[in-house]
Amino acid sequence: MQVRVFKDAQAVAKAAAMIFAAQLAEKSDSVLGLATGSTPVETYRKMIELYNEGQMDFSKVKSYNLDEYVGLGPEHECSYRYFMQEQLFNHINIRPENTFVPSGVADNLDQVGLAYDEAVRAAGGVDLQLLGIGNNGHIGFNEPDDHFTSATHVVNLTESTIKANTRFFKSESEVPRQAISMGVGTIMSARKILLLALGEAKAQAVRDTVKGHITPRVPASVLQLHPNAIILLDEAAASKL
Ligand code: F6R
Repeated sequence: MQVRVFKDAQAVAKAAAMIFAAQLAEKSDSVLGLATGSTPVETYRKMIELYNEGQMDFSKVKSYNLDEYVGLGPEHECSYRYFMQEQLFNHINIRPENTFVPSGVADNLDQVGLAYDEAVRAAGGVDLQLLGIGNNGHIGFNEPDDHFTSATHVVNLTESTIKANTRFFKSESEVPRQAISMGVGTIMSARKILLLALGEAKAQAVRDTVKGHITPRVPASVLQLHPNAIILLDEAAASKL
């Protein structure tokens, strides 16, 4: 696992966007794994800038998002589908039918999970997977647990995640208690993984991920086993390394 530390969040975003641009330059029909949350927002903004400058072309790209809240449809402004439209898809030339976010409102979510992993496989697998990290070390919504869950599945969000994500909702009671998330196996099957972490609040999780034992109690620690994982940090997130 390669760790790179940058002065601030802007520099992280610029470096992350350049890695995406290099990926598309090398393989125009790349399959991208995408993330939501605060961390990637600036990276997406830089990618939009590169697209506007003619340096990125998404016309052949497929994207698969990590996760979605259970119970929130695409029109809900806190849903991850809505987030992706607003923060990235509406501003670039990706074909709408090539963007995938697991449904959090289908009747049979177990089936959604199985079909999602099958679709990722059928697309040839993810070439470049973007990840943020939870304060508790989660990736996607794979929360600390006593085992790793491999496939895309429904998860119960921990109190720590519900509290951390309340900032996106009107109140804590509105935060969904469940999500559907790519499993650790799905994430690890990506050919390249790019994890971003910003700010002091992530410093302990980053330390445990990079320097700790590999354990499902810190789901991101599994990235130590990935042959091509890059971690980009600002100085605050790197402060406990
Ligand atoms: C988002 C996701 C989560 C976030 C993590 C960090 O799709 O899967 O793992 O990456 O919760 O969130 P932020 O970036 O808001 O700190």
